[in-house]
Amino acid sequence: MKQVVISGSGLYTPPHSISNEALVESFNAYVDMFNLENAGLIEQGHVAALSYSSSEFIEKASGIKHRYVMVKDGILDPEIMMPLIPERSSEELSMQAEIGIDAARMALENANLKPEDIDLVIVACAYTQRAYPAMAIEIQRELGTRGYGYDMLVACSSATFAIVQASNAIATGSAKRVLVINPEICSPQMNYRDRDSHFIFGDVATAVVLEEESLVAEGKGFKIVSSRCFTDFSNNIRSNFGHLNRCDPSTAHQADKLFHQQGRKVFKELLPMIYQHLDEHLAAEALKPQSFKRLWLHQANINMNQFVVRKLLGDDVLPETAPTVLDEYANTASAGSVIAFHKYSADLEAGDLGLLSSFGAGYSIGSVIVKKR
Ligand code: COA
Repeated sequence: MKQVVISGSGLYTPPHSISNEALVESFNAYVDMFNLENAGLIEQGHVAALSYSSSEFIEKASGIKHRYVMVKDGILDPEIMMPLIPERSSEELSMQAEIGIDAARMALENANLKPEDIDLVIVACAYTQRAYPAMAIEIQRELGTRGYGYDMLVACSSATFAIVQASNAIATGSAKRVLVINPEICSPQMNYRDRDSHFIFGDVATAVVLEEESLVAEGKGFKIVSSRCFTDFSNNIRSNFGHLNRCDPSTAHQADKLFHQQGRKVFKELLPMIYQHLDEHLAAEALKPQSFKRLWLHQANINMNQFVVRKLLGDDVLPETAPTVLDEYANTASAGSVIAFHKYSADLEAGDLGLLSSFGAGYSIGSVIVKKR
């Protein structure tokens, strides 16, 4: 089996910002509008009045202060509450491919590679804008990579699961250099009228390059020591969006076609699974949590991450051990841990160990142990 190195990473940050305050102001305007329009029914007890959202709640409950979006038009308008994204023709690149390419170019540059050095592109994310041709093939054509490409969807664990696939492809010889791209345009899946979740997601794209170790200069990148995936079905984080939706027009636009979750249940059920998964993965490698210089964790909820860090390392852990990016980026589905890796890995020294881990819908958990070369 060939050894595998992550030799470069890239990040694309969308142009538009939305603060909690702006989001809450628009949500509360919607609440006023709804309650006024339904005043009679609310008074008769037939409809429940909606309650205001609050920035303080959002920050305390999730750690999110802000998010980036590709298109801001429409999101903050209480009559619209979704991004108004013009359709592109078949001759135009999809928006997701476009931002994926941006992140990919940065990852290639950091790996000192050209597109033609790549022989596999895996696009891994929570949704794909178009069903087929696969976005990875669209990107392959646009960038000029060789070999083959495919898309894979595992919601929040798409990035780590794709790194595992890329690593396996290199280890077994079906590719030598792989681009894993995570173009996460999450803002269209948000129900901006739902108080429990209107603040959760933002847009971003990340990418990493993986190479056969013998092709990478001495001292460059992070060697993959070991990786592990886990899934266990749960209904608690869902989107029922799909190509059959249009076949039942009576339900096609209902709220279940957007992201929805039982956040409390997710918290309670997923945490023990994460503990067990990481315990077992570390035990299999005879590693202790203290062996790790850095944890690049999934970025859904700051409190959840603090529980994971405390369980692994105890109370007195410096924040830089497990860097947070969700305050700025919000939850970006699978890209969160890769943003953390991209921004907070340059200071690691030869021999330092790091852990990249995702957890989310499915349920799904992915963990990749890397060692700085
Ligand atoms: N503004 C103000 N108050 C709000 C609110 C909002 N936007 N949304 C909910 N509340 C209220 C609730 O009504 C509830 O009030 P009550 O105690 O009077 O009933 C209270 O705040 C607590 O609500 P709850 O839903 O229990 O909050 P929480 O602490 O669980 O935080 C999440 C909500 C979603 C931030 C949190 O559960 C979470 O992130 N869970 C993990 C989810 C996850 O990782 N998902 C993966 C996604 S990919």
